[in-house]
Amino acid sequence: MEIDTVIDQGAEFFLAGDVFDLDVMASRAFCVEVGDNQLEGFFVRAENGDLFAYKNSCPHTGAPLNWTPDQFLTSSGRYIQCSIHGAMFKLESGECFAGPCSGKFLQAMKVVEREGQAFVGAESL
Ligand code: FES
Repeated sequence: MEIDTVIDQGAEFFLAGDVFDLDVMASRAFCVEVGDNQLEGFFVRAENGDLFAYKNSCPHTGAPLNWTPDQFLTSSGRYIQCSIHGAMFKLESGECFAGPCSGKFLQAMKVVEREGQAFVGAESL
């Protein structure tokens, strides 16, 4: 199956999912498969509407972060929180500021939003 792609500033991006209905301070998981490579990640939409994408891997142990399939955030929606040991991360940078991996970062992906669809950078795969 062919994956939808876009080119932005000379770089290739792969379609990862719809985000037209992703509210601010909400999260959504995605999975992109290209050839033998599979990338599991999630989107978060910040309070100002900006969209961010991170790999679903906690810098503490590499475990998936989410509580339930699309739930990666604290109950307030203000921070990303790992479901295993509770580390907390800033939405806009992925920096851990509380918990066992304090000072480390989630692996950010470049993301492009076009007409309600989100595409992640090919270099992430
Ligand atoms: S695995 Fe995420 S805080 Fe320990």
